Parts: sequence; C-alpha cells; structure tokens
Amino acid sequence: MIDAAQSRRPSTGLDADAVRVAYRRWAGVYDVVFGGISGWGRRRAAAEVNRLPGARVLEVGVGTGLALPYYAPEKRITGIDLSADMLRLARTRVQTEGLTNVEAVLEMDAEQTSFADASFDIAVAMFVASVVPNPHRLLAEMRRVVRPGGKILFVNHSAAEQGPRWWVERAMAPASQALGWHPDFSFKGLLDPKDYAAAQIAPVPPFGFFTLVRLSN
Ligand SMILES: C[S@@+](CC[C@H](N)C(=O)[O-])C[C@H]1O[C@@H](n2cnc3c(N)ncnc32)[C@H](O)[C@@H]1O
Repeated sequence: MIDAAQSRRPSTGLDADAVRVAYRRWAGVYDVVFGGISGWGRRRAAAEVNRLPGARVLEVGVGTGLALPYYAPEKRITGIDLSADMLRLARTRVQTEGLTNVEAVLEMDAEQTSFADASFDIAVAMFVASVVPNPHRLLAEMRRVVRPGGKILFVNHSAAEQGPRWWVERAMAPASQALGWHPDFSFKGLLDPKDYAAAQIAPVPPFGFFTLVRLSN
C-alpha cells in the first residue's frame, strides 16, 4: 500500500535534458505507439476544453499535436513543449490539417514559461504531468498563466494505490529516464488535499485507465 509520503515523492531520473533526449527517440514513432489507446483521453480532454467558457487555451506538452484537431474552431490554441523534435511534427500537423485556430507552437518549458500572468482562460496538460521533471512546478505555472476563475485540466495515467498494478508501477519507476515518463506518478501526489477535494476527477471511458482532472483557478 502506498503511503502519503511515498505518493508525494517523485521518482528520479528525468530532468529537462533527459526529457529532450527521450522524446527525440520517441518522436518518429510516437503517434503509432501512443496515439491509439490514449486517443480516448485526448478527445475527452479536448471536448471538456470546448465546453468551457473562454477562447484562450494553452496546451502544455503539446508533443506531436495529436489533440490539436479536436479543439473547436473558436478556441485559440497555443501549444508549448520542451522537445523540438516533437514540435516539428506538431507544426507539420497544423499545416497539413489546416488548423487555423492554432495560433502558436512554441519551444518552451511548461514549468517556467514566458507568458504574462492570466494570459489564458484554460490550460490543459495531456499525458504530461507524469513526464515533467517537477509536476508541482508545472501546476504552479499553469495556475499563474490562467486567469482567476479559469480552468486547469489534466488527463493522465495515475498510479494505483495498492494491488498488482502498484507493484508493477513501483518496479518500473527507476526506468523513468529510459521510458520518458514516471510510471509512479499519481494525482494524489500532485494535488494538495484541498485541491484534491475540490477537483472534478473522473475516469476516462472506455477502460478507465486514464483520469481526467479539472481544477478551478
Ligand atoms: C507523453 S508526451 C504527451 C504529448 C501530448 N500531450 C500527447 O497527448 O500526445 C509528453 C510531452 O511532454 C513534453 N514535456 C515534458 N516536460 C516538459 C516541460 N517541462 N515543458 C514542456 N513540455 C514538456 C515532452 O517533450 C513530450 O512531448
């Protein structure tokens, strides 16, 4: 069983350079390997964004831009990522699919962006919270750049708290640098108890393997 201290302790091994190296390796095969089953999570998160008020949307860790086609035309999307290799594919997607609502695709650290306070109505992170070197800094930065009353969304795998999956995820944690993500990431570790209680937290159908989290800023 995982205890509170363990759930808050990030596994080591992924700093910004390690993320760039990992996603240079993944970029060419990313859509084939990760586009399938996680597509449910992206569509669900984008649908939630589309339902929310406000047009200015920041997608952090936009990767190859798999979610970009799902946003409503009236949303104005800025995507950022640390990996130039992933972003190259995102920019190609924006061009080939004619995604005129994507305003910018920028190489930037989501833990420390250059945006002014309250620049966005919504910030969304899809399968990124388990990758960034410091998820707490990511959340703090998303809070800073979203206006008061705006929304912050995450969709991610969240580690089990017990049972066989807990053992597998803990066993895989030391390989985070090679994998390019932290298998032992959990939303309970990311959110403080007040945020956790206030958040809307829902499993993503059809398998419930991913979790959608919505916070008010
Ligand atoms: C698992 S991929 C998810 C990509 C995309 N969101 C998707 O749904 O396919 C994680 C992405 O987060 C990016 N990333 C990791 N740490 C980051 C950071 N600190 N700032 C910006 N992007 C980061 C990686 O480069 C990678 O593209």
